[in-house]
Order: sequence, then structure tokens, then C-alpha cells
Amino acid sequence: MTKLSVNINKIATIRNARGGNNPDVVKVALDCERFGAQGITVHPRPDERHIRRSDVYALKPLLSTEFNIEGYPSPEFIDLVLKVKPHQVTLVPDAPDQITSNAGWDTKTHQSFLTELMDTFGGAGVRTSIFVGTDIELIEYAAKTGADRVELYTEPYATLYPKDREAAIAPFVEAAKVVRSLGMGLNAGHDLSLENLKYMHDNIPWLDEVSIGHALVCDALYLGLEKTIDAYLDCLK
Ligand code: PXP
Repeated sequence: MTKLSVNINKIATIRNARGGNNPDVVKVALDCERFGAQGITVHPRPDERHIRRSDVYALKPLLSTEFNIEGYPSPEFIDLVLKVKPHQVTLVPDAPDQITSNAGWDTKTHQSFLTELMDTFGGAGVRTSIFVGTDIELIEYAAKTGADRVELYTEPYATLYPKDREAAIAPFVEAAKVVRSLGMGLNAGHDLSLENLKYMHDNIPWLDEVSIGHALVCDALYLGLEKTIDAYLDCLK
């Protein structure tokens, strides 16, 4: 079964636009779970422009599904993850001012840094995942760090999908097979949507988890949150 983890950063972005607590990110997260999502993802950034550290602490004791914290492993981020101890940490290589993640790790260059982090998080009982592209060598280096999983960066798939979905999925199927043969779990995320998710899942049914934020929140404006989550879960059947 492929789990749907809802990234609630965009909900926090809307809240932060007015300075109050509307929408309430904790309530939205709990409603996502109630509507069937099997996980919640947050991406706290150093400037707290969407999810804040205080949101992460508030969510932890209330969530009943899988909690995934993603982000760049700065000292503050590492400290937060070790204090909160979510089910999973996903490491992304993005700079603090980046609008959103736009590449996977160069796991070859950063092998020793990542290996140390896998030991730190793994030792604290937190499952580890590294955000990567489809370059096979870099996936092999991700395995060498001791990561439990990788998350494939799916923006290139989403971009090519409307023009040529077979060409779009091909490198991802190849990469997903390598991930499986190396004994790692497999997540995917970025720009997945109601348009392209089902085809990805049909071609890579052994995906453990997808992490989806932007498109899901946009769809919820029209369909409502409950129907939107239903529609995403349908794509993963
Ligand atoms: N995975 C990672 C590592 C991300 O950084 C993001 C965006 O914060 C996502 C998944 C979700 O991407 P989207 O918002 O496009 O669904």
C-alpha cells in the first residue's frame, strides 16, 4: 500500500498571511487524518515563513498517523527533529531562501555528512529518507549512507507528463527498481497531482509513500478537503 502524506506547509502560508490562527494548521492536519490521509508532512524553514517550530511541537502529540519532518539539516533542524522524534525525517538540500526544493542531494559529494546524519537520526529511532533525483549512481551513494529510504524528486516527471507520459515515467521506474534492489524503501514527492499521480502509482506500485502539498491544497479550494483526499487516495488504489 502506498501511503498519502499530506504536506501542510501551504496551510501555514495562508495562516501566516494574516498573523492570526486561521486556518488552524493543527485542525487541518487532524482533519486530513480523519479524511483518510495516512501521514502528515511539514517542512519547517529557518525563517518560519510557513510551518513554525511551535507548529511541529504542537502537532507531534496529536497526530495518530505517520509524522514526517523534511528540511535541510542545519543544526537547528537536527535539534528539532531529535527533540520531536517524528516517525520519519526527510533530508533535502535546499538553501534557506529557496521558494521550494528544486533538486535532490549530490549524495556522492556529501556522502560523509549524510552518513553521519543517518547514524544520528537512526540512533534516535527516526526513520531516514534522502531526497534524490533519478541518477542511479547518486541513488547507490544514498544507499551507502545507510538511509532507510529515498524520496524521488518528481518535478521532472510532472513537467514532462502532459507531453509524453511514457518518457516522463521511464527514468523513475528505472530508479525505483534500483532503490528496491538496494533494499531501501521508496517515497516520492514534488508536483504530484490528480493529473499525474495515478500513472506514477500504476507504474511503480511498490512506492511506500507520496508526499503532496501544493496541488492537493489547490484542489481542495474547489472540491473541499475531504473529497480531495478521497480523490488522491483513489489514485493510489
Ligand atoms: N517533498 C519534498 C522534499 C518537498 O520539499 C516538497 C515541497 O515542500 C514536497 C515533497 C511536496 O511538493 P508539492 O508541494 O509540490 O506537492
